[in-house]
Amino acid sequence: MKFTHDKIERNPWLLIALVILVVSVGGLAEIVPLFFQKSTTEPVAGLKPYEPLRLVGRDIYVREGCYNCHSQMIRPFRAETERYGHYSVAGEFVYDRPFQWGSKRTGPDLARVGGRYSDEWHRIHLTNPRDVVPESNMPSYPWLAKNKLNPQEVVPKMQALRTLGHPYTDQEIKEAPEQLADKTEQDALIAYLQGMGTQIKTRR
Ligand code: HEC
Repeated sequence: MKFTHDKIERNPWLLIALVILVVSVGGLAEIVPLFFQKSTTEPVAGLKPYEPLRLVGRDIYVREGCYNCHSQMIRPFRAETERYGHYSVAGEFVYDRPFQWGSKRTGPDLARVGGRYSDEWHRIHLTNPRDVVPESNMPSYPWLAKNKLNPQEVVPKMQALRTLGHPYTDQEIKEAPEQLADKTEQDALIAYLQGMGTQIKTRR
């Protein structure tokens, strides 16, 4: 026994190999069971894949880097749930690829912002946040209201997501571009925000 340990400690390569082995086994033992646990793999009751307008809005959220200042994950602590509502659960994010949890909170968490304000509030806020929250340091996004969506772009997105298991029907994909006709990037982003976190009843 003494001999083996001596050998390991004096041979850095052997030590590295064994450390990697031990850490991987430990890591796998924590991670692998999550793939088979219902609470982390099954959508929460009533969760649907993003409808076209919200799907496009989500991509605009990513493009504009909103995640640099906003998280989308409410932690299970009293201070968090009092402020934002029910803590986030894994089954809410089954159709989020990639999820936007984040951890940077220059602004408030947005996981349950859906329905908290009117669409009109969001329009004003996105165009110039200081018009509704005078002390806000959130940037203005005035171009979102001017940029029209390209309705056809949503088709390959939905097809790609379908191959990953999002249950879109042929019909839904075919009719998607119609729903985006004449919509602006701002409409899409607001639709996305308004749906956020509404699958679970919030306690506020
Ligand atoms: C530089 C940091 C920053 C960026 C980037 C940013 N925000 Fe904000 N956001 C804030 C701050 C700070 C607040 C709180 C003050 C306010 O309401 O304007 C806020 C508030 C909000 C609110 C209101 C939340 C609430 O519960 O009151 C929404 C909705 C929002 N932001 C959406 C967005 C979206 C969408 C984007 C991307 C287009 C974005 N933010 C980008 C900093 C940021």
